[in-house]
Amino acid sequence: MARVYNFSAGPSTIAEPVLERAREEFMDWRGSGMSVLEMSHRGPEFVSIAAKTEEDLRDILGIPDHYGVLFLQGGATTQFSMVPMNLAAEGGLACYVDTGSWSLKAIEEARKICEVHIAASSMGSNYSAIPEEATWDLKKSAAYLHYTSNETIGGIEFPGIPACGGLPVVCDMSSNILSRPIEVDRFALIYAGAQKNMGAAGITVVIVRNELLARASRKLPSMLDYAQHAKNQSMLNTPPTFIWYLLGLVLDWIKSLGGLESLARMNSRKAAKLYQAIDDSSFYSNPIQPKFRSRMNIPFILADAALDERFLAEAEQEGLMNLKGHRSVGGMRASIYNAMPEAGVDRLVSFMGEFERRYG
Ligand SMILES: Cc1ncc(COP(=O)(O)O)c(C=O)c1O
Repeated sequence: MARVYNFSAGPSTIAEPVLERAREEFMDWRGSGMSVLEMSHRGPEFVSIAAKTEEDLRDILGIPDHYGVLFLQGGATTQFSMVPMNLAAEGGLACYVDTGSWSLKAIEEARKICEVHIAASSMGSNYSAIPEEATWDLKKSAAYLHYTSNETIGGIEFPGIPACGGLPVVCDMSSNILSRPIEVDRFALIYAGAQKNMGAAGITVVIVRNELLARASRKLPSMLDYAQHAKNQSMLNTPPTFIWYLLGLVLDWIKSLGGLESLARMNSRKAAKLYQAIDDSSFYSNPIQPKFRSRMNIPFILADAALDERFLAEAEQEGLMNLKGHRSVGGMRASIYNAMPEAGVDRLVSFMGEFERRYG
């Protein structure tokens, strides 16, 4: 079996020990005589899997007791609507920070539900930097401030957590959750799709301060109501059981590595190697100001775009897959989430050097 290095932005590479454990347990989950795929979500086996997954997530991220953890469907995209539906009053106001494609999508959806005020935008720097917080125009009457901690397409990441003038902070952490330790109690609500750092597509984690659960001032369909999901242990309907289980295996793997401190060190080292290779060359470039460069998604362009197809084809021959940049940006993008081994980054860096020597 030849596994490749998969630089896809999501669904993305999953650590081999996780896949192997899923395979070992696939036909018969720990002597139950059943695959997890076949279990009732209300049976004792799956209930124990779900409970352990939540416990491990709380442990790894340090989620305080006054926060609820929900395991929902509909992707982070559904959260673009659920956040304003649940947290903003009818005709209410919410602040958003625009740092690129994903925050703009969140803004577009929120505008259908409430008033949106753009507190800051990266547009002025052509999305290469995040405006200094001192320049943000925050509205005290806003129900919350929303930002995207890592822009998966543009490759821009918040180096820390903004203070946001005391407004409740809501964060789309889809593409950098579990990549480093965070102070959960600085947030009102965090959401993230699983298909980057938490396993496979199909489940979205929402971490929310309990007092906000019953905030919805409008009548909401149950599936869009955080309070309903919380009351029903995220089993208001049949959940994506296997994906939930897989998330649990990813958390076991994170624990075996020593938790988020270790992952943060590995992630910084991997990203630094790739940025160094880009900066040391006159053939590759990355437009993001160094302070805001993403550790997870690294876009880069070749000096001659006519070589893009050749770069991708030759990279594939080396087992370096899915390096094509997002269609809106072009060029290349290497997504190097937690599960991308450092050896994959080393292989990419060495391929880039060779390619430049031949064609640069
Ligand atoms: C930062 C960010 N937010 C939201 C989404 C949307 O996630 P989903 O496709 O799970 O709805 C993505 C998907 O890549 C993302 O990267």
